[in-house]
Amino acid sequence: MSNMKRAMDVYLNGLRNQHAVETQAIGTIQNELPRMEGYPDLHAKMKADHERSVTQAARLDDLLEKHGSKKSILKEAVTGAVATVAGFTHAGAGDEVLKNVLAAIGFKAYEISSYKVLLALADAAGASDDTSVLEQSMREEQDMGDWLGSNLPNLVHAYLEQKPV
Ligand SMILES: [Fe+2]
Repeated sequence: MSNMKRAMDVYLNGLRNQHAVETQAIGTIQNELPRMEGYPDLHAKMKADHERSVTQAARLDDLLEKHGSKKSILKEAVTGAVATVAGFTHAGAGDEVLKNVLAAIGFKAYEISSYKVLLALADAAGASDDTSVLEQSMREEQDMGDWLGSNLPNLVHAYLEQKPV
């Protein structure tokens, strides 16, 4: 198998994995949104991130289709890893929102790195036409991660102002 063919196989697998990651994100955010209603800025950002994740998943589907590959075969290893990251969102008592935000920041870091890997693989597979759409998704993850990180102090203050449950 040539190096480029091998790179294409790994790349297509990576696209499927990332589709599973985005699908997981969509579900996680959906579960968390009701608990974020007391935090209007966070709620609005997470709602936008939910919609963006749907778009990102569709982009990955489009790329898979373009390369003649079936979409979204869930990879247990990846969903397992993601479930671990998401896992401590359910462990909380009253400070669930803060835990959810910390988990979301970790999740974004994972996604940024995943897109970085996909960009390198696209290059190696001779699919450099794909890089602009992958870069766009990566930038979106970066923006959301930055927003969450820089708003942590505000969220802590907002949390402290909420009535104890
Ligand atoms: Fe995403």
